[in-house]
Amino acid sequence: MPQALSELLRSRRTINRFRPEAPPAEIIHQALDLARWVPNHHLTEPWRFYCLGQDTARAIAELNAELIAATKGQASAQAKLANWLAKPGWLVVTQVRSDDPLQYQEDYAACCCAIHSIMLYLWSHGIGSKWSTGPVIRDSRFYELIWVDQDSEEAVGLLWYGYPAETPQTPRRPLNELLIELP
Ligand SMILES: Cc1cc2nc3c(=O)[nH]c(=O)nc-3n(C[C@H](O)[C@H](O)[C@H](O)COP(=O)(O)O)c2cc1C
Repeated sequence: MPQALSELLRSRRTINRFRPEAPPAEIIHQALDLARWVPNHHLTEPWRFYCLGQDTARAIAELNAELIAATKGQASAQAKLANWLAKPGWLVVTQVRSDDPLQYQEDYAACCCAIHSIMLYLWSHGIGSKWSTGPVIRDSRFYELIWVDQDSEEAVGLLWYGYPAETPQTPRRPLNELLIELP
């Protein structure tokens, strides 16, 4: 039974710990299919969706561990590697690059809407996700691993998904601190 939209929007949380089983690929494809319907100025359809298999996911986790080892040492790198290898589902959303700065900005906004749609649809099926923009997604080797020409596309997010092992509580400021009503 789908949750009401308000409850869906309010209850979705970024999930850090997942149960090991992978959600059905069919639901992931439905989420990506629906993500195409977000607002998109000039209908540039700037998003590309990459569903990663285990080999690619592992290679990215190992690249990330290598980056961490260089800055924080081997112990941190190994801990992060174990953490990443436990993520059951991996997606990358990229944005097709544009030379026009305004289009680039608006395309990024549209890709963010698309990612939010993916996360909400998954959440409506009890599937949690996390949007990550860590340094690995800016490394040229990351683009080689996902077979993307870095001059043509830019990663907007690495998305992990799976059934939540734990759902954190993350507060928000009350609306009255954020709302400005004009005459
Ligand atoms: C553009 C973007 C990038 C993010 N990158 C990261 C990240 O690299 N690492 C991380 O732990 N969380 C990342 N997040 C998740 C946020 O930290 C998370 O949404 C925030 O803490 C609010 O939690 P909630 O999603 O449960 O409401 C990112 C979120 C967005 C929108």
